[in-house]
Amino acid sequence: MPLLGVNIDHVATVRQARMTNEPDPVHAAVLAEMGGADGITVHLREDRRHIQDRDLELLRQTIRVGLNLEMAVTDEMTGIALKTVPEQVTLVPEKRAELTTEGGLDVIRQRDRVAVCANRLQDVGIRVSLFIDPDESQIEASASLGVDAIEIHTGNFADATTAKAQAIEFERVVTSGHQAVKNGLRLNMGHGLTYRNVQKISQIPDLQELNIGHSIVSHALLVGFERAVREMKDLITPSS
Ligand code: PXP
Repeated sequence: MPLLGVNIDHVATVRQARMTNEPDPVHAAVLAEMGGADGITVHLREDRRHIQDRDLELLRQTIRVGLNLEMAVTDEMTGIALKTVPEQVTLVPEKRAELTTEGGLDVIRQRDRVAVCANRLQDVGIRVSLFIDPDESQIEASASLGVDAIEIHTGNFADATTAKAQAIEFERVVTSGHQAVKNGLRLNMGHGLTYRNVQKISQIPDLQELNIGHSIVSHALLVGFERAVREMKDLITPSS
């Protein structure tokens, strides 16, 4: 059964809409833990559009489950990660104009930058995961860098509008996952997962962790954070 990492970025999005101090993502993280979250994920963006530096510092001091920091491959972010020491860093591509992380990291083209950043983080014991598309050559490149994990981008699977397209994307995710595990990488997945599509993905063999944000925060707005997390956790937990 995969672990559930709850991405709380969009709690901060609501706060930043008014530039005020509520809702507090730290409060949401505590409720997420009470609902069964196995980890808390935040993306500290270069433009600070949702999560702020203060959130990261307080989360580090508050939560008892693992902290997964998503970040761009930059010197500024590497410095912050080295100071915060989250259990895991997930390196993601970042474009200013995007609504959300649009594609996977191009590990082949950015090999040297990714290697330097990953090595610095691994040297202090942080697990490094690369957010990549379900693509054979990207998995090969990730494995050759000696990182600990990959997170396969499930966005195309989630966005598929026909059963046939979804089946093709699912197959890609499964095949890539298998290749990653064969290469000794910890297998994480995420992006675009919802209460409707998560079960198929959660049954993929050797999957260690799912990172889910928008759907949980949206549901939480209506039913409360703790319940929203518990309902997602129940969906990814096989019934005995
Ligand atoms: N994984 C990564 C690397 C992401 O960048 C995001 C979005 O911040 C997610 C998972 C969560 O995606 P969603 O909000 O669609 O569940």
